[in-house]
This record gives sequence, structure tokens and C-alpha cells, in this order.
Amino acid sequence: MLKMENIHMQVNNDSGEDIEILKGINIEFAKGKVYAITGPNGGGKSSIAKVIMGIYRHSKGRILLNGEDISELSLTERAMKGIGYAFQQPTRFKGLTIGSILKIASPEADPMHIRKYLRDVGLCPEDYLDRDLGAGLSGGEIKRIEMAQLLLRSPLISIFDEPEAGVDLWTIQKLLGLILSRYKNNTTKTAVIITHNEKIIPMCDEILVVDGGVITAQGTPKEIWHLIKDDIECKVRYQCQGDVIYDIK
Ligand SMILES: Nc1ncnc2c1ncn2[C@@H]1O[C@H](COP(=O)(O)OP(=O)(O)OP(=O)(O)O)[C@@H](O)[C@H]1O
Ligand SMILES: [Mg+2]
Repeated sequence: MLKMENIHMQVNNDSGEDIEILKGINIEFAKGKVYAITGPNGGGKSSIAKVIMGIYRHSKGRILLNGEDISELSLTERAMKGIGYAFQQPTRFKGLTIGSILKIASPEADPMHIRKYLRDVGLCPEDYLDRDLGAGLSGGEIKRIEMAQLLLRSPLISIFDEPEAGVDLWTIQKLLGLILSRYKNNTTKTAVIITHNEKIIPMCDEILVVDGGVITAQGTPKEIWHLIKDDIECKVRYQCQGDVIYDIK
């Protein structure tokens, strides 16, 4: 379905120097599977999503969607081909109502459908449809609305960037169920969840660990969950060696 071949990506830092963020990423996302991408903060997870979406441009390698090289396509063209991304920190669009942004996400959706998706993400349509997408909404509400947009749009590949961030446990459990039931064994689509949540990770079909701009581990939860847990413990110990401020035990 979507393949990243030897993807490198660099950005210009504050001092004007080029720094390499992604250092040769190879991934193949298959139809009918739900993937978890995890790893330490700053490892490159959101950068992978942004490169797939076309928000960041890769400097080397190819991205293929169902065999077609989409490397040169713009963000809009990729969205139209069937790539969707729910941001880690969604944008607030002042002046647009929640009802209208959901209609834009899926113009053919009828009002009943739109109301259902709002309920699915734990928001009462009566209270939210006419609300402005500006500053008045909480972080968790904005995240849920963005997830509703992506679920409504239902592109070929949906990338959810830390859906759990700021969202309460009850809603995240329900949302996860929704994502799993919709994408597992789907004949045309796939979902990628970027997450740190140890309840979400084991429920996915495959886990990718991204650290330092490379994939350091990949496999089913059964194959690599214990490695991740050991690795996290090692890293915490390593980072805290000689640290007089924090006692990790
Ligand atoms: N536009 C940019 N300019 C400069 N540095 C950037 C830019 N985008 C990403 N980076 C750097 O690239 C690295 C990877 O960032 P990224 O957002 O992909 O990490 P992440 O794995 O999603 O982390 P987190 O778990 O904190 O969300 C970080 O060190 C970040 O500071
Ligand atoms: Mg991120």
C-alpha cells in the first residue's frame, strides 16, 4: 500500500545548518493492518508522518502509494490520492464551525453521519456542531474533532499522531476500538497510530520503533513488546547515570 524507500529528510536549524532528521527510513505499510509507531521524544515519528503527507520534503529516497511514486506530489495532491494525517498539535481555524469543517472533510456525508462521528469521538452534536473552531475549545476537544475529520474522510492511509494526547481514557478506549474495527482486515485501507501509550501499542498488528531518525525495531507486539520495555528501562538508567537530582528507583 504505502512504501518508504531509504527516506532521508533534513531541516535547517536556527543557525542555518542542515541537520538530518530521518536517516534512511524503510517501511512498507500493508492494507488491512494497524501499525503503531513509537519511540523516544524527538526520535522522528512525526517527521515520518509529515514526510508521507508532503508537509516536509525528503532529500533522498522514494515514497510509493500503491506502486505510484508520489515523491513529487504536493500535500493537496497526496490528500486527494488518499493520505490523511491528524496532527499531534492540530491547527485552530477561527471563523469556521465544527459542523462546516466536518462537512469539508466529507462533503457527501449527510447530517446524521456527521452527528454520529461527533458522538463517536465523545462530543455531543447539539453542543458542538455550531461552535467555532477557534481558541475557545480545549486541547482535548480539538484533538477529538480532528480525529472525527479523519475518520469521516476515511482515506486509504490514516495517520493519527498521538491520538491519546490530552484525550481522556474513556474516549481514547472508544476511539481505539473504532480505529481497530475499521482498519483491521480492511481490504483497501490501513491506519498508523503514532503513540506512547502502552495500552494502544500491544493492540496494533505491527510496531515500529523510531529513534534517532532510524527504525531500531519492528515486529508484532508479541515479538518486540518485551524488547521495547527493556530498552526503555535501559535508556532511563543510562540517562540518569550520575544524576543527583532524580532517583529512578
Ligand atoms: N522543522 C524543524 N526544524 C528543526 N528541527 C526539527 C523540525 N522538525 C523536527 N525537528 C527535529 O527533528 C527531531 C524529530 O522530531 P519529531 O517531531 O519527528 O519527533 P517525534 O518522534 O515526533 O517526537 P515526540 O514524541 O516528542 O512527538 C527533533 O529533534 C526535532 O526537534
Ligand atoms: Mg511527534
